[in-house]
Amino acid sequence: MSSSVSKMRIITTIAEAQAQPQAKRRVLVPTMGALHKAHGEMVRVARKHAGHDGEVALSIFVNPLQFEPGSDYERYPRLEKTDEEFCRNAGVDLLFRPGVAEMYANDRSVFVEESSFSNRLEGKSRPRHFRGVCTVVAKLFNILSPDAALFGEKDFQQLVIVRRMVRDLNFKTDIIAVPTMREEDGLACSSRNQYLNIEERKQAPVLHRALLAAANAGNKSAREIVDLVSKVIDEAPLARIDYVEVADSETLQPVETVRPNSLLALAVSFGKTRLIDNIRLG
Ligand code: PAF
Repeated sequence: MSSSVSKMRIITTIAEAQAQPQAKRRVLVPTMGALHKAHGEMVRVARKHAGHDGEVALSIFVNPLQFEPGSDYERYPRLEKTDEEFCRNAGVDLLFRPGVAEMYANDRSVFVEESSFSNRLEGKSRPRHFRGVCTVVAKLFNILSPDAALFGEKDFQQLVIVRRMVRDLNFKTDIIAVPTMREEDGLACSSRNQYLNIEERKQAPVLHRALLAAANAGNKSAREIVDLVSKVIDEAPLARIDYVEVADSETLQPVETVRPNSLLALAVSFGKTRLIDNIRLG
């Protein structure tokens, strides 16, 4: 055990969080728990950005505001003890683990809403999602005052929207993007992967194969790329496509011609599990 293993502070209230001595530099990894190797990588990157006299804070909060009614909020994995152990071993200094009542007053009436990118891609199927994300991320930034915070590129749209929120609301937190981590067979690491049954898990890497096929397709129109990706995914009998889109990676607007800054994003369900992934094209 490293010395940081025994030193981890665990706090559950906003008052405790705001009373913490502020480290020279605090870097936050915001999560919803069910931690896996991509979170381990984020803690490693956070440590690097925090420097030897800074600290890594990790928050675990399954945020009800970002789940659509009838989606997987109730069954989202909550693994308190395992996650705590994970954080100790990863070298987290401060674990913030509030409950819902601590984060949201029953009569809450103020939300943070981004209104340009939030209704595209994921937002079409999850109209309340990014309002929930922005609200909770803004609250975490106010509660923990991080100098920097890490967001994974798997949730590319979330990253773009959080960056816009930070810019427009003048948060002093730097946003650091962390490249998508993958399992050996290419499936993007996600807490939701554990919902997949054996057959679904076997078929899910088709998403990465489809993204790679698109990235290697050469000079094609967005329409041709979408058709190619859909055809590869359709080879997996359990896959149901929600969307496959080529968009500008800054504005998230759909594009017709693939350019160096184009993003190919997709959402596909296997049974009750909805997975997202993306790749840069060009
Ligand atoms: O990406 C996630 O895990 C969540 O959307 C986040 C950023 C922790 C907000 O709840």
